[in-house]
Amino acid sequence: MEKIVAHPALQPFNLQTTALSNRLAVAPMTRVSAEEDGTPTAEMADYYAGFAQGGFGIVITEGVYTDEFYSQGYLNQPGITTDRHTKAWGQISDAVRQAGAQPVLQLMHAGALSQGNRYRCSTAGPSAVRPLRAMMEAYGGSGPWPVPNAMSLKDIERVIAGFVDSAVAARSAGFTGVEVHSANGYLLDQFLTPYMNTRTDEFGGSITNRVRLTATVIAAIRAAVPDPGFWVGVRLSQGKVNDHAYRWEHGAEEAALIFATVSDASYIHIAGEGSGWEEGALLDNGETITALARRVTQKPVIANGNLADTDLSARVVQGGHADLISIGRSALANPDYPAKLARGIDLVAFDPAMLAPKVTLANTTAWRARTA
Ligand SMILES: Cc1cc2nc3c(=O)[nH]c(=O)nc-3n(C[C@H](O)[C@H](O)[C@H](O)COP(=O)(O)O)c2cc1C
Repeated sequence: MEKIVAHPALQPFNLQTTALSNRLAVAPMTRVSAEEDGTPTAEMADYYAGFAQGGFGIVITEGVYTDEFYSQGYLNQPGITTDRHTKAWGQISDAVRQAGAQPVLQLMHAGALSQGNRYRCSTAGPSAVRPLRAMMEAYGGSGPWPVPNAMSLKDIERVIAGFVDSAVAARSAGFTGVEVHSANGYLLDQFLTPYMNTRTDEFGGSITNRVRLTATVIAAIRAAVPDPGFWVGVRLSQGKVNDHAYRWEHGAEEAALIFATVSDASYIHIAGEGSGWEEGALLDNGETITALARRVTQKPVIANGNLADTDLSARVVQGGHADLISIGRSALANPDYPAKLARGIDLVAFDPAMLAPKVTLANTTAWRARTA
């Protein structure tokens, strides 16, 4: 007989005005599987709807580029800058919603970590500082990152306008909300990071100045989409795709300042980039980063990072460390993760071969066919 599990992550939750049937979200995952012009495909609609059919309450898309200047990070990354993009995203949001989940579009500007942009052959970031380490081959890049152009104030205005226009488009495409990607080493996180941001204007120097761009983007989206039901979430992290070990310089004090500045967001999503929630969470004041985000912002917090471990995720939710849990790699191996959790069915282990040699949907589909 199947056992029915009452896991805390399966309890309902209200996010703003939206009632969620559980607290499980699919974490954003880049799949570089869009058409060359950035239009998402029917295969992507099936892929995203699959997570909703499997019981996830929220499906967050991969990072989507926001303008035709410097935002695109990889070739075949989807965008939301043309009517064709918006129409195709409308089909994806419909498919996800019809299958019972809330669709959220992650808005991403790659900045200095761009390794493929069909509009530009140069990159731009807060300052002309070469990013650490090398481009990621699984996302179609190779060799050292180029030294980016230091963004002018005009470039920064374009960044903000890109996020705003994309959020407006996401709303018209039927998404419940957007998530502003300010994590993992991409543009907004580059502004937050002293070794990438050596500016001396109002966007550099103090923590308040370095977090200004993220806060401005959130406020500008809110002003353009005043609908109180529309979510404007934000994703933050200490670790970066090209610097897993990075931690905010002033620990809990810096974290509190950053969180206070983004507390207008509908939710705070903390990415476990390069380390699981458990290893990365504890701050120098003894609080976990997610609990501190909850306390400072009084907003729902999503924890992430190796949280497919159901004992650990139960501790995170029951211990008040977070309200919601996002699952990345394990959701690829188990698009029906919530349904399996509810019925006590064993999970399939994530296999890195699902994302090799590139992180495309085709490679995941081939893995599924090989192992079925
Ligand atoms: C293939 C792949 C692509 C990713 N792309 C994104 C992305 O577009 N945006 C983002 O914020 N995080 C991205 N991430 C990070 C995940 O959202 C998540 O933080 C990470 O996988 C840790 O969670 P997990 O242990 O549940 O996999 C990606 C991760 C993977 C494995």
